[in-house]
Parts: sequence; structure tokens; C-alpha cells
Amino acid sequence: MARTRFVSLLIGMASFVCVVTGKLRPMPEGGLPRDLFGLGIASKIRTDRNSTARASSDFGRIVKAAPEAVLHPAMPVDIAALIQYSMSSPAPFPVSPHGQGHSVRGQSLAPGGVVVDMLAMGRGQHRRINVSADYVDAGGEQLWIDVLRATLEHGLAPLVWTDYLRITVGGMLSNAGIGGQAFRHGPQITNVLELDVVTGTGEMVTCSHEKSSDLFFAALGGLGQFGVITRARIALEKAPKRVQMNRTLMEGPKSTPFFSEDDINRLAGLAFESSSAAIYIIEAAMYYTDTNDSYVDQKLEKVLE
Ligand SMILES: Cc1cc2nc3c(=O)[nH]c(=O)nc-3n(C[C@H](O)[C@H](O)[C@H](O)COP(=O)(O)OP(=O)(O)OC[C@H]3O[C@@H](n4cnc5c(N)ncnc54)[C@H](O)[C@@H]3O)c2cc1C
Ligand SMILES: *[C@@H]1O[C@H](CO)[C@@H](O)[C@H](O)[C@H]1NC(C)=O
Ligand SMILES: *[C@@H]1O[C@H](CO)[C@@H](O)[C@H](O)[C@H]1NC(C)=O
Ligand SMILES: *[C@@H]1O[C@H](CO)[C@@H](O)[C@H](O)[C@H]1NC(C)=O
Ligand SMILES: *[C@@H]1O[C@H](CO)[C@@H](O)[C@H](O)[C@H]1NC(C)=O
Repeated sequence: MARTRFVSLLIGMASFVCVVTGKLRPMPEGGLPRDLFGLGIASKIRTDRNSTARASSDFGRIVKAAPEAVLHPAMPVDIAALIQYSMSSPAPFPVSPHGQGHSVRGQSLAPGGVVVDMLAMGRGQHRRINVSADYVDAGGEQLWIDVLRATLEHGLAPLVWTDYLRITVGGMLSNAGIGGQAFRHGPQITNVLELDVVTGTGEMVTCSHEKSSDLFFAALGGLGQFGVITRARIALEKAPKRVQMNRTLMEGPKSTPFFSEDDINRLAGLAFESSSAAIYIIEAAMYYTDTNDSYVDQKLEKVLE
């Protein structure tokens, strides 16, 4: 199973190369072209085992595949230089952006090629997050939790969230971004106004609904196959001041396990009573700004009924 998926992953990556060159040439024996290490970005390319081992797997730990090297870009132009080099070389190699590595089937790996460690761009002096009245510009390497912290300082927040926030803007927008608010506003990818993308030919393109819209809609949900997202402009709204939840979820400082022991026993009981039934869990949260707790409690109780 894992092997089949791995092969399809390789085909996915091969097509990334094909899309831009129109032909696919084999990798040279024994690794990357040597003159790669003569480029201006050479000091940001690491080939030591520590670096390549870390970029060889992901959250799923199902697929393992080592890259030949890892690029630690300081700026988007470093990523552009790498891809331009690969594309102009007689033997283009796989290049894959790697955010927080929270995909589960090896999507961020680059077997025999170069993994771009996106988080390196966030280690500069200035945090790449700019908040405006209606939107935030965030680097593709930024974590959503940091985007939220920055916007909350202005009383603002993105419209849609994922349940889990320690993933990158680019990694998430390469999927979809499903969370509690998606039923109303759509997934996160439908709340993006503009992207900066380094394309498969190493061009840096700003795209949106109006400008280069084919690239814009391909990159959103594109699993890194159509380019590397280096900046996203994300729509904002006024952040609700408070939220009320029915606390059946256990909320410790580490918030694991997700369910309390009582809940788990209840779920086990239900599963035992009817082993073929599906159990649906409804998560509910109520936003409010200026009212008292007892009123909110009453209202929530009504909703939950
Ligand atoms: C514990 C956990 C909870 C999760 N919760 C949710 C949830 O509530 N809702 C939801 O929708 N999803 C959820 N996910 C799935 C998650 O959104 C995806 O796995 C997402 O891709 C993770 O982002 P990442 O930064 O780790 O990306 P990575 O795993 O590093 O990369 C994922 C894919 O995106 C590509 N990529 C990475 N960065 C970029 C970039 N800058 N530009 C272009 N492509 C890029 C990679 O090449 C790869 O194909 C969850 C995953 C985990 C492990
Ligand atoms: C690799 O990691 C080990 C253990 O963490 C460390 O001792 C070693 O110095 C690292 N090597 C390099 C080249 O970073
Ligand atoms: C934030 O604004 C600064 C100053 O205008 C700019 O140089 C930088 O590129 C912006 N960053 C992002 C991620 O938009
Ligand atoms: C949460 O909702 C359930 C179902 O309505 C109810 O039985 C439970 O008492 C509620 N818990 C709290 C803490 O409000
Ligand atoms: C709480 O708010 C509700 C609705 O705004 C109001 O009717 C009620 O009197 C308030 N109760 C208290 C104790 O302030």
C-alpha cells in the first residue's frame, strides 16, 4: 500500500517537472548536479545527514524518502534561484516545499531532489506578517497561530480556521483548510485575495482572481505542484470578543487527550450497543461580544437541544 502511494507521489513530482519543461530527464547518478553548489544560494543548501534526515518523513511516518539536499531560503528569491537552476539544468530534479511537515503521506518530500525548508524564511529579523484593515499579508512559511496573534492585536481575525493552528499558511492553502466556520464562509482557500507564487519555471508571480487567475486557482489546493506560495493575502473580519463552548472536550494545558474519560466511556458504550453505527460528534461554539454569561449559557443550551 505504502509503496503504491509512494510511486504515485513520484509520478506527481515528475509531472511537476514535466509541466514546465515538457520533458523529463533522469537524475544523474550519485545526486545533484555539482554546479548547484557554485550558485549564490550555495551557503543556504545543506547536505548533512541531520538536515536530509529531518526532511525525509512527515507527520504520518508512513512514507520515507530522503532528499539529496535541503534549501534554507532567507527570501523568496532564493527559492526562485533553486527552481530556475533545476529547470535550466540538463537533469531537472524534484523540488518540494516543506512547511510544518504535517501532511501524512509524504506530500512534502523530494526523493533524490531538494526539499525547501519554508520555516527558514520566518527566522529573519522581521516577522513576515503585515496586518491591514481588511486583510493580512502573511509569508507562506508563517504558522496560522502567529497570524492569529498578529491580527488579534488589531481586533481582527481571519474568517475561517482549522482546528489545529501550528501549520503553515502555504502548507494549509495547498490543501483546503476546513474548520468550524467553513460551513458559513467556505474553506480557507476561498478567503484568499492574492498570492505570491514562485512558479515551476522559477518566476515570481503575484496572482489573484483577476491577475493570472489560472495560477491562483491552481496553487490554492495544489499540494505544491504548481508553485511555492511565498505570501498570501487573507481576508479579515472583526474578531469576536468572546466565545462559549459546551465543554465536553477536555481542555488541559496540553489539551490531549481530546475527549474526557467520561466522553470516551460514553462513546465506547454507544459503539458497543451498535457496532455498525457511525457516531457523529458535533462541535459547537457561539461567538458573542456584549452580553452576560448566564444569557449566553441559556442560549447555548437552546441551540444544543
Ligand atoms: C494534527 C493535525 C491536525 C490537522 N487539522 C486540520 C484541520 O483542522 N483542518 C484542515 O483543513 N486540515 C488539518 N490538517 C491537515 C493539514 O492542513 C495539512 O496536513 C497541511 O498541509 C499541513 O501544513 P504543513 O505546513 O504541515 O504542510 P506540509 O506537510 O509541510 O506540506 C503539505 C503540502 O503542501 C505543500 N506545501 C508546503 N508549503 C507550501 C508552500 N508554501 N507553497 C506551496 N505548497 C506548499 C507541500 O509540498 C505538501 O505537498 C491537520 C493535520 C494534522 C497533522
Ligand atoms: C547532528 O545531530 C547530532 C545530534 O543532535 C549533533 O551532535 C551533531 O553535531 C549534528 N551535526 C551537524 C552537522 O549538525
Ligand atoms: C510587509 O511590509 C514590508 C514594508 O512594506 C514589506 O517590505 C514586506 O515585504 C511585507 N511583508 C509581507 C509578507 O507582505
Ligand atoms: C454539554 O451538552 C450536553 C448535551 O446537551 C449536556 O448533557 C452537558 O451537560 C453540557 N455540558 C456543559 C458543561 O454544559
Ligand atoms: C443578561 O442579558 C440579557 C439579554 O441581554 C438580559 O435580558 C438580562 O437581564 C441580563 N442579566 C443580567 C443579570 O444582567
